[in-house]
Amino acid sequence: MKGITKVFPGTVACEAIDFDLRAGEIHALVGQNGAGKSTLIRVLAGIYPRDAGEIFIEGEPVEHLTPWTAHDLGMRFIHQELNLVPQFNVAENIVLGDPYPFRFGRLIDWRRLNRHVGSVLADLGISIDPRRSVQSLSVAEQWMVAIARALYSRGRVLVMDEPTSSLTREDVQELFDLVRSLVAKGTSVIYISHRLEEVFELAQRVTVLRDGHKVTTTDVDSIDLSELVRLMVGGSPQKLYPTIEEDRSVGKPVLQADELTSIDGRLVDLSLEVHEREVVGLTGLLGAGHNEFADSLFGVGAQFSSGQVLLDGKPYEPRGARDAIGRGIGLVPAERRSQGLIGEMRIWENIILAHLRHFLIDPITQIIRHREANREALEQMRSLRIVAVGPEQEVRYLSGGNQQKVVLAKWLLRRPRLLVLNEPTRGIDVSAKAEIYGLVRRLADEGSGILFVSTEAEELAGVCDRVLILRQGRLVAEIPRRELSAQRIMEACYGG
Ligand SMILES: Nc1ncnc2c1ncn2[C@@H]1O[C@H](COP(=O)(O)OP(=O)(O)OP(=O)(O)O)[C@@H](O)[C@H]1O
Ligand SMILES: [Mg+2]
Repeated sequence: MKGITKVFPGTVACEAIDFDLRAGEIHALVGQNGAGKSTLIRVLAGIYPRDAGEIFIEGEPVEHLTPWTAHDLGMRFIHQELNLVPQFNVAENIVLGDPYPFRFGRLIDWRRLNRHVGSVLADLGISIDPRRSVQSLSVAEQWMVAIARALYSRGRVLVMDEPTSSLTREDVQELFDLVRSLVAKGTSVIYISHRLEEVFELAQRVTVLRDGHKVTTTDVDSIDLSELVRLMVGGSPQKLYPTIEEDRSVGKPVLQADELTSIDGRLVDLSLEVHEREVVGLTGLLGAGHNEFADSLFGVGAQFSSGQVLLDGKPYEPRGARDAIGRGIGLVPAERRSQGLIGEMRIWENIILAHLRHFLIDPITQIIRHREANREALEQMRSLRIVAVGPEQEVRYLSGGNQQKVVLAKWLLRRPRLLVLNEPTRGIDVSAKAEIYGLVRRLADEGSGILFVSTEAEELAGVCDRVLILRQGRLVAEIPRRELSAQRIMEACYGG
């Protein structure tokens, strides 16, 4: 790619970017949220027409790139936002863009299709029935399907835009093995990730983007982590984790769960407390119940057959979002796109959404104090460093990480009694992470109780006052601040 420029109204997403991919290499593409990574990839995929620049494949210039010609040229993409068709089943999604098998010339041979897709999935070590509809799958499973789609008919170039943010450690390792075996067969890979340790593990070269410009391309061997971060941030980065006093005094309990058992058996006899001014981590391996518990407090997912939840000492039966918000709970859901945002609405509208009444002139007319809402939104955007044209921009046009920040802004504005964060830093760049950890601590210092649910042991150790570990729905360990380390957390998760 030579001199690639892509301009959106109010934003130069990519400016004169040169990028080259060698045969058989894994080339990482990194940069902060909004740096232009996904845009560059979408230009390559023929989704966005470029405003300037040239693209060559094996030396041949490519003029009119569309998603179809890109596919024909042997390029396969796993986009950041998945782009699966939810109403289609797994097999249909996977063959999308490739010819269906036919019988008698014009009838789709479903049996053969399902068998073929089944064998592709099996090769990838994925056990999902090809006939299941995509919308019934978990997020991690949907990622597996997206990966299978990209690998269904082998291309010469595979582009992955943050494929691992929703995967477990084990799945990540499997994916890496897979990628390496494809590379051994001659595929070249462009790999985007905010997990920089993955860059060092997987890639041979790395290209850094900042504010739509290319900073550099370099061999991974000739650079270390802090240097890479410095290139991304454009200066020395702030400290990632805040300083936390040991044995800080906390207030009275905000959340108390008392011997909770869910009907589906994913949570068993779970008792825990979160106090005012306290950040409590909750973790486990995939399916251990931590993510499920977070959502259940908002009345989503698990229902309880016994036990009870108290909020500020009063019984609370999680029924739904309105209920939860009314009782002072905020939730940053793991799946921001489908559960945390309304893409067609503007940034300011999303930010005030959980706080609407506060911005109404009076409840009868339902007219919103637009100027005030806008000002508040702008302030949140500034403190979270949300990269956007302005508060009037529709959320769907923001980069992935910036969308996540909008979800956070919504709850920071409201100052909930209890803030439940479910994997809040997925897809978030390093400096925004530091920002978020700082904000979480500040919210706790101001009196909120925080339940920090995450699968990243590192960040739990960095941000929590204590961490609770679940295994198969049961609470199996509690680690206090002075003993906290990523190592300790991982050991407890695995039962070591
Ligand atoms: N369709 C669009 N319309 C308007 N602006 C857009 C559009 N797509 C991207 N942008 C803007 O272009 C810039 C680059 O976005 P891009 O999605 O490429 O970032 P990114 O590097 O992938 O970030 P992240 O790590 O958060 O995914 C951002 O400021 C974003 O708001
Ligand atoms: Mg992106």
